[in-house]
Amino acid sequence: MVLSLNPTDKVILALDGMDSYEALAILSRLPDVIWVKVGVELFVSSGPGIVRELRDRGLRVFLDLKFHDIPASMAGACKRAAKLGAELITIHSCAGTKALIQAQAAALEGAEEAGLPPPKLLAVTVLTSWDEGLIAKELLIRQTIQERVDMLASLSKKAGLAGCVCSPKELRSLRQRFPEPFHLVTPGIRPKASELGDQVRVMTPSEAIKAGASRIVIGRPITRADDPRLEFEKCCQSLKI
Ligand code: C5P
Repeated sequence: MVLSLNPTDKVILALDGMDSYEALAILSRLPDVIWVKVGVELFVSSGPGIVRELRDRGLRVFLDLKFHDIPASMAGACKRAAKLGAELITIHSCAGTKALIQAQAAALEGAEEAGLPPPKLLAVTVLTSWDEGLIAKELLIRQTIQERVDMLASLSKKAGLAGCVCSPKELRSLRQRFPEPFHLVTPGIRPKASELGDQVRVMTPSEAIKAGASRIVIGRPITRADDPRLEFEKCCQSLKI
């Protein structure tokens, strides 16, 4: 069993829509947070130093930059991400087996060189912004989203990746096919009372964990709440069995 019994360890706070100053300010109001997600927006505005800064504050970092490139570039990026101290790193599984294998090996090498614990590489399968109509029309892909997600998750598993990112809708079937310790990290989380925003397929935190998520990613319902600490606590409380 890879999961800690501490529910706080299962919640990853997404630091979207903010610069480093704002991110650190909100985190100073959230002393119990363990995991944070740094996406492209924060990374591009603040640079790699933000990962070190967060780690220096004792936080664990999910670096969600969704690398997709030729194998050598993906490997180089993953090695450097691991050296920075990111413990979860996303890469696109449609980059192919060679790229996935090289990225995985490079990440382990980077962490080892830096004396850090081995990171988990997570595969991105199909972004939630795609739907079947669009994927058929623009990319001429005839698979259903579920078929494509399954296929890309299998590719990633065979390449030795630790897990993948998936929407709540895909959780149950992926968990059936890929038992723990395969890591399933799920955005699209909404506590019951909060607004839907642009998250189309949503689950509550406890529904997602019961459906097989290893960890959940939640952003705006906490970061934009009047009382972020209270929202975070309520979210963690709801995960206690
Ligand atoms: O909506 P929320 O602020 O909780 O988003 C948290 C994370 O969920 C985002 O950083 C993004 O990676 C992901 N997301 C998604 N699909 C959307 C909106 C957000 O996968 N439509």
